[in-house]
Amino acid sequence: MAMTSVKKAVALALWLLVWRSLVSYSQTPTYYADVQPIISRHCVACHQPGGVGPFSLLTYTDVRKRGTFIGNVTQSRYMPPFPADRTFQHYANERGLSEQEIGTIQRWVTAGMPDGNAKTSNATAQQPTATADARKPDVVLRMKPYAIKGDGREDFRYFHVPMQLAKDIWVEAIEFVPGNRKLLHHSRLMIDSTGTMAGINEISEDDPRLRDFQRTPLADEFLYGWVPGNDRVTFPAGTAKRIRAGSDLILNIHYAPSAKPDTDQSEVRLYLSHDANPRPVHTLTLTERTITNQPFVLTANTKPTFYMNYGPLPDSIQLLSVLPHLHRLGRSVRAFAVTPDGDAINLISIPDWDYNWQLSYFFRNPLLLPKGATLIAEAMYDNTDQNPLNPNRPARDVRYGWNATDEMMNLVFYYVR
Ligand code: HEC
Repeated sequence: MAMTSVKKAVALALWLLVWRSLVSYSQTPTYYADVQPIISRHCVACHQPGGVGPFSLLTYTDVRKRGTFIGNVTQSRYMPPFPADRTFQHYANERGLSEQEIGTIQRWVTAGMPDGNAKTSNATAQQPTATADARKPDVVLRMKPYAIKGDGREDFRYFHVPMQLAKDIWVEAIEFVPGNRKLLHHSRLMIDSTGTMAGINEISEDDPRLRDFQRTPLADEFLYGWVPGNDRVTFPAGTAKRIRAGSDLILNIHYAPSAKPDTDQSEVRLYLSHDANPRPVHTLTLTERTITNQPFVLTANTKPTFYMNYGPLPDSIQLLSVLPHLHRLGRSVRAFAVTPDGDAINLISIPDWDYNWQLSYFFRNPLLLPKGATLIAEAMYDNTDQNPLNPNRPARDVRYGWNATDEMMNLVFYYVR
């Protein structure tokens, strides 16, 4: 008796399950009920008037017009942009659609993109998301206005921004505000505490004087890397980055080609920590010097892989974030730590390197690397003529350098002790 009632219950449960999935599957997704919430959550931060995305996705008409395209870029996971593999490690600032959300968009497109009823749906009217919160920055640093030529060529420039700090400051958030959102591609912020870089202002990457500046070792040089949509970096509560009195800011900015003259005056905003005694955020930069299979030369028409090995760490540290930095020949990068017990801690894997989307990946929780741990990384490059992204035509031997036609292999970590 008991047996049959259990069987019946199981059969009923199974039947209910099948029925429910059939019903939900057969229901055609509509824009207002199903698609708009996905676009609101994952897309409009960039795709709104004045945003970094090339068009707005605020209204049904906007989204419908590009429905098939949206179906393609979400299925291939090209949008929202997030190159790191989220099955390798999770991040506090990660982006991405779930399989279910991708499926909803697919079914909506196949069904002819019905709008549904705006009034009966739960979706509220979309407001452009405010990108900055109400808090006022404590320090605002503006570069001198720069005249972009309009010769249809990419432009990589350095800018020197005096900070005039009479005493050390402790920064808990850093924001980069591009003056020219249309042309500004990405930017790297560095700190010069040597007082020797003033002459770098406005010089281009091709300028031979750059080699001289590059010879000056800047202590703790890397501050922050900006890409569209990653406007602000905020350190975890109770931690802050110290900027020493007398330091200056160096901006390395990449402008997209422009057919007509334009200008840029970008701004950096610093938010100071109110903590009496913040834990200092340190920067650890693994450079080409850490590469084990030297020399760092990418021979023309080869696909080399370089390996890094750094450690053992003299003390335990807590990693807050990682930023891998390669140039255009990069194809993939992967990094992990190995503890003295032989356990691996995954840090980052970017299986399909995208030069345009280089960001700091903040771990969901600080990752503890025990004393004696070793950091290991590998990066693969493609310096062949067949690589459509190769900036050198024909391919030539490529070595280390800041220029976009040179290469780099850096891993920049923020950590606390
Ligand atoms: C972090 C900012 C950001 C977010 C979030 C974002 N986009 Fe984009 N999107 C861009 C930028 C910048 C471009 C233009 C450069 C490019 O194509 O990479 C773009 C390009 C596109 C394109 C054109 C691609 C092409 O090949 O020309 C489509 C379509 C698109 N986005 C749809 C979406 C959808 C749908 C979402 C949400 C699921 C989304 N985007 C989220 C910034 C963003």
